[in-house]
Amino acid sequence: MDSTNGSQTLEEQARAFFDSAPPLQNTHQITQKLDQFIQHRSSPSANGENRRIVCVTSGGTTAPLEQRCVRYVDNFSSGHRGATSTEYFLKAGYAVIFLYRRGSFQPFCRSLPDDPLVECFVPTDDLNIRVREAYSEAVKRAVVDHHAAVTGGLLLKLPFNTIFEYLQMLQLIATSMRCLGPCAMFYLAAAVSDFYVPWKDMVEHKIQSGSHFLDVQLVQVPKMLSMLRKDWAPLAFCVSFKLETDSNILLNKAAAALEKYKMHAVVANELTTRKEHVVVVTSADNIIVHRDKSHSGNDVENPLIKLLSERHEAYIKDSSRLV
Ligand code: PMT
Repeated sequence: MDSTNGSQTLEEQARAFFDSAPPLQNTHQITQKLDQFIQHRSSPSANGENRRIVCVTSGGTTAPLEQRCVRYVDNFSSGHRGATSTEYFLKAGYAVIFLYRRGSFQPFCRSLPDDPLVECFVPTDDLNIRVREAYSEAVKRAVVDHHAAVTGGLLLKLPFNTIFEYLQMLQLIATSMRCLGPCAMFYLAAAVSDFYVPWKDMVEHKIQSGSHFLDVQLVQVPKMLSMLRKDWAPLAFCVSFKLETDSNILLNKAAAALEKYKMHAVVANELTTRKEHVVVVTSADNIIVHRDKSHSGNDVENPLIKLLSERHEAYIKDSSRLV
């Protein structure tokens, strides 16, 4: 792996990344959808409360090894955190732009079985289709709640696969949300590739398996968190995540990220306990957030999103005092 692009400034690294990325498909449609969605929330009738929009990122990005991609390096994330958090953000009154990895968990669909079409539905004698009793609540949530959020202009879903798509879309979203000022929030739960092969250095065709070694040069992905804070949406409230497998280094790493990338909060989580508790690290305090274990259906995201939306509200109030 080559991490020697250290002599370049972040802006130069970011420019090199975007210049070498394959152009994003459907940029025009994505921008149109974003503008419509954001305008709907920023209409003159919208008060401060219902102007809040959060961009939730979810799932892992891939780093392709070939331009006509057969093989890629993947990042672990099921998308459960992002999908669950989206539901609680909607409950808290936010509109949500859900930037998600294709095929990862989706909001309102978490309780469905792996093969929902086959397991949730049965044919009736007159060749109609009926929902199995055991899944009726889960199907209702998936269809009715999801439909209401999308048609009500409260949920916009944008899919990605690769690190190129993810970062290009994050930039588009952030620059579109800039007009919301402090009412915008970023909740960056996606697991983002740290290394990638620049498009221009990537072989076109499938790498042949003739040698014992796979000889590929990986370059560090610029941490775009700084670009987000400095240039793309400087007034937005930004929450990033820190994932570690060694709990001894987790809080120090989260505090370092808070400082380095000027985040408003960093959610620290350890891989095996991430659904039980997380620590919200801010410049003022570290707050441990636990899942309420009294009921198996409770999620740690419920108290987490409550806490973050309170902090965001305080941030909006503080920002309006400064104006
Ligand atoms: O999806 P689940 O299975 O439910 O799991 C949820 C989760 C564990 C993936 C999630 O809670 C989580 O921790 N996501 C962040 C994982 C991650 O990439 O951590 P990191 O320490 O490598 O990166 C820290 C932050 O920097 C992240 O917010 C990431 O968006 C950002 N980043 C990372 C790399 C990079 N090149 N640029 C970035 O901006």
